Amino acid sequence: MPEILIELENVSYRYGETTALERVSLQVREGEFWAVIGPNGSGKSTLLKLVLGLIEPQAGQVRLFSEPAASFRSKEKIGYVSQKSNAFNSAFPATVREVVRSGLVKKTGLFRRFPSDWEAKVTKALAAVGMESYAGRSIGQLSGGQQQRVFIARALISNPELLILDEPTVGIDRQHMESFYDMLGRLNREKGIAILLVTHDVDTVSELVTHVACVNRSIHFHGPHEEYNRQEERFRNEWYGHPVRRVHHDKEGGEG
Ligand SMILES: Nc1ncnc2c1ncn2[C@@H]1O[C@H](COP(=O)(O)OP(=O)(O)OP(=O)(O)O)[C@@H](O)[C@H]1O
Ligand SMILES: [Mg+2]
Repeated sequence: MPEILIELENVSYRYGETTALERVSLQVREGEFWAVIGPNGSGKSTLLKLVLGLIEPQAGQVRLFSEPAASFRSKEKIGYVSQKSNAFNSAFPATVREVVRSGLVKKTGLFRRFPSDWEAKVTKALAAVGMESYAGRSIGQLSGGQQQRVFIARALISNPELLILDEPTVGIDRQHMESFYDMLGRLNREKGIAILLVTHDVDTVSELVTHVACVNRSIHFHGPHEEYNRQEERFRNEWYGHPVRRVHHDKEGGEG
């Protein structure tokens, strides 16, 4: 049986009076690719923050690689791209190379040291997301989709076993979104990296991911994507409160 990387057991989390998550249980194993879906305010980002040990649950257990999340120290095993990572304006004074390298920073006393082979590591991480020819470019001058790839490269530079992404396609158009998701699919299949992806593009990713979790304060469904796809359309409509429109990848409208 593949190793359990993330384990939540009856986890509840409150922000003051607001209960964000209630008795959530979930297991993510080696090699799996999970889509976490749910409406705005349903607790998806909270779930990721619990997994990352950024916040601690009032009830229940969170374990990472079989260790309690709160005392988990092997942070290099996990790459994380947050919901608002692509907010760079065009004047931001860093190159792509510097942004990706910053994923290697270890604070050692007063000094910030990089390993001597950092440049090769940067090139490899950029190659994994198809951005190796952009190393010298200024981050602020890339498109939103290109910036997102760079942030994934930053998250990949420590060779993580698990990649955690919070709505990484915000600001990416439909055409680039598809190639972005294909890239995630390749990282999962070819490098064996487990992925936990929060997304609203459920129909786009449902063939790509291995598992789906529907969160709305509690977990309403979790399981293999085939099982999710077999659910009645009614279930999905109830879930979103309106019929879900299938995403078409062929060109829409009259252009081109
Ligand atoms: N720092 C906070 N303080 C108080 N309440 C919060 C805080 N962060 C989130 N919440 C509340 O907790 C609930 C879950 O929020 P969360 O950010 O996890 O939702 P989400 O599913 O990620 O939503 P979205 O799709 O909009 O990103 C919401 O009701 C939200 O208002
Ligand atoms: Mg969120």
